[in-house]
This record gives sequence, C-alpha cells and structure tokens, in this order.
Amino acid sequence: MSKARLRVGVLVSGSGSNLQALIDSCAAPDHPAEIVTVISNRPGVKALDRAKKAGIEAVTVDHKAYPDRESFDAEMQRALDAAGVEFICLAGFMRLLTTGFVEHWSRRMINIHPSLLPSFKGLNVQQRAIDAGARFSGCTVHFVTPEMDVGPIIQQAVVPIHQDDSAESLAARILEQEHRIYPASLRWIAEGRIRIEGERVLLDSATHPDTSLLNPAPEATR
Ligand code: GAR
Repeated sequence: MSKARLRVGVLVSGSGSNLQALIDSCAAPDHPAEIVTVISNRPGVKALDRAKKAGIEAVTVDHKAYPDRESFDAEMQRALDAAGVEFICLAGFMRLLTTGFVEHWSRRMINIHPSLLPSFKGLNVQQRAIDAGARFSGCTVHFVTPEMDVGPIIQQAVVPIHQDDSAESLAARILEQEHRIYPASLRWIAEGRIRIEGERVLLDSATHPDTSLLNPAPEATR
C-alpha cells in the first residue's frame, strides 16, 4: 500500500503564482504531498481561481469580517482542521499571524519571502534592496516562528540586482526563483529529508555545488 500523502493547506492573499508552482509540482503522481485546501484572507483574488481550476477547495476567510487577529486566526484554524490539514505553506499571505496560531503550527508551517533573509524583512523589500545598493537579492523559504520573517532557513536562491532594475523587474527575477525553490522545499519536507537543529535546517543527502557569484562580472572592470 502506498504511503499517505502529506495534507497541505496553502494560505494566500493575492495572485498565487507560488501557489500555482506548488499545485503543478504536487500534480506529479509520485509526489509525497497533496494540497487539500487553499485559504485566502482576501475575497476574489486570482489565487482562489487557480485553486478551483485545479479542483482544490478554495476558501475565503475575509479578515475584515473579524474584530481582531485572534478571532480571524481561530476561523482559519477551523477551516484548516475541517480540511484535515497537516502542514501549511504561506504563499504570498500578507497577514501577521498570532503567536498562538504560529506556535500551534510550529515546525509545520513554512513561508516564502522575496529577499535573502535575514536581510530585508518586512514589506517593499525589492525597492529596499535596490536602495541599499545590494548587488544581489533573492528569495528564502523558511519555517515560520512568531517573529516575522525569522525562522530556520530551508532554501535560498540568489539573483543579481542590475543597475537599471526597478522594484518590478527585480521582483519578477526573484519570483522565477521562488517558483523553483518553494516546491523543492515542500517536497523535501514531505519526503522526510529535513531536520531542524537550533536555527539550522539540515537536509539529508544534500549536494554541495562549488560555485560563487560575482556581480558585476570582473571582466566589466578595466
Ligand atoms: C511573492 O513574491 C512572495 O515571496 C511575497 O509575495 C509575493 C506573492 O506572489 N511574499 C511576501 O512578501 C511575504 N512576506 P504570488 O501571490 O504570485 O505567489
């Protein structure tokens, strides 16, 4: 008999391109995870359409309908329990979660963030990386802990920042890499290859490409 697949709930607030990457990855017949529900805190977003199109339950829990974060999170918890969710992926979910909720899902909830954490936590991170003069940015998949954008890092991808970049062009370059690393990280977790030691995440049978990046390339200097 085949092993039960990890039941994943994805929380979204917007376009859901990361959700789509997760949906596409989990569609592989041998994939060890299955997305059982998608919950949005904003009505009518594209992510909900993506879920429906894939035949996945699409739920709206509009945060504006709740008087405080506690009651909103309690409703989210009810929806997750009703779907039998075992593991949560935050995919462009733009609400802060209460400590109680985060602790309940400790080591069972991951997030993707469009910077190389621990640099540039919070909002507007692409513009802030450009303004700081950083030569590289990227994205980070990490376990969620009560402090925002902090928590053991599972995987990162690096992209260059070009001198003619806008926040939008940089965001698009980063997003391409988000769509690679988020599904990969979820797969590792569902395969049971990940363990957490202190702040570090260790991956069984990890390979170590011996590469380094320079930006601008040295041949540009005379
Ligand atoms: C992504 O860039 C994601 O990393 C970011 O929002 C975007 C959502 O895009 N998340 C955060 O900033 C969370 N702090 P998507 O809806 O197309 O996946």
